[in-house]
Amino acid sequence: MLQLRIFSAVQNCRCSYRSFHSSSVTSKYADTLEILGDKYHTDEITNVTPSILSKIPLQVHKQTGHPLNTLRSIIESHYPDFSHFSSFNPLVTPFKNFDELAFPKDHPGRSVTDSYYIHKNLMLRTHTSAHEVEVFSKGEDKWLLTADVYRRDEIDGSHYPVFHQMEGARLYSADASGMKQVEEDNERLSRHLKMSNIIIEDIPHISPTNPVQRTHDPVHSELVAKNLKLSLNSLLLRLFGSTASEEPLRVRWIEAYFPFTSPSFEVEVFFRGKWLEILGCGVVIQSTLDISNVEGKIGWAFGLGLERIAMILYSIPDIRLFWSTDERFLSQFKDGEITTFKPYSKFPSCFKDVSFWNAQGSAPLHDNDFCDLVRDVAGDLVEDVKMIDSFVHPKTNRSSSCYRINYRSMDRSLSNEEVNELQKSVVTRLTDLFRVEIR
Ligand code: DAH
Repeated sequence: MLQLRIFSAVQNCRCSYRSFHSSSVTSKYADTLEILGDKYHTDEITNVTPSILSKIPLQVHKQTGHPLNTLRSIIESHYPDFSHFSSFNPLVTPFKNFDELAFPKDHPGRSVTDSYYIHKNLMLRTHTSAHEVEVFSKGEDKWLLTADVYRRDEIDGSHYPVFHQMEGARLYSADASGMKQVEEDNERLSRHLKMSNIIIEDIPHISPTNPVQRTHDPVHSELVAKNLKLSLNSLLLRLFGSTASEEPLRVRWIEAYFPFTSPSFEVEVFFRGKWLEILGCGVVIQSTLDISNVEGKIGWAFGLGLERIAMILYSIPDIRLFWSTDERFLSQFKDGEITTFKPYSKFPSCFKDVSFWNAQGSAPLHDNDFCDLVRDVAGDLVEDVKMIDSFVHPKTNRSSSCYRINYRSMDRSLSNEEVNELQKSVVTRLTDLFRVEIR
């Protein structure tokens, strides 16, 4: 099991399930926030930061020549007869992000430590699956949807609180004619894959631990799960096949759990000596189709993380680069082409530690709260943040935390004064917002 965070197969596979505690600090929010030209009220759970809000209008997945845009169009061209969407609003209700997809009421993804809220009834989508019901309700049977998604997370070279996912789905009629179509598709895809340089480690399409849904005919479910696997194996071959040169591409399927699919799977690809988690998928749960007023159909859906794949294909070493406006980055890429990124320079790191006593009687500051604070002060000048120590004082029972911040720009050398100023602001905000005592 690579991760515990059930709905995060796709980017950030580090588990971030911890105790819940509210991180929001109401005093730092104005009564209203303006997002994409509209005004929204805030409340006691508002936790979206200015640095996150500033990313919303950027839409890098639609910028000509940007690696994420090229990757999106390559995947879209692999599914030419699907509808392609890429302009859905990132603000959704928690109902849409979670309930429509059968997430349990106590799912940790709902907590303010894991997700960004504008207010109680409005949040930044945490995954593209949030739009499944909306798209199925339009009567769409085969579609792809690309979007920016938002999750509170720690800071390092492969994690960023804003990233991009692509959701794909395919529905068939749950009757003899629909199943005949699935079988024909399966045969066609199998033939294509047999001729290719790919080694697939598979698992049963259904099993007792990865069950068929009660309302599904097991034969239909099996055919659809097989179709899902064949379709995605063929996509992975398109994406990674050529990079692997003479070496066959190795793909492995793993049983998974998602609230909104059953059976469910994750897919990993072997790349440069490591298994990398690429996507989550499964047979769409019946209740999602019911809410969408779709009758008599069965089908699959998948969600993949674009940054993860683009970092591999383009050899992009740091996830912050996807947000770079530096010409030395952007000018390297041509629309529609995958080329190897040439790092222009690696500038020096500057490490700064901060240790503090947490407020008397309160739980230790959540890592994600610390990281959002640092991100808000230093933006993309922070490369990673590590907790290096934590303990509870045996007599006073007060907890202490120590973090190490690595400041490094991707574009230039930072001066000592500049870093000291940033660190000073981090410390001031820490004491102002979280009432910690610096040690
Ligand atoms: N939304 C999931 C995530 O962000 C990924 C996913 C899993 C999407 C299964 C799907 C699916 O469509 O069927 O981790």
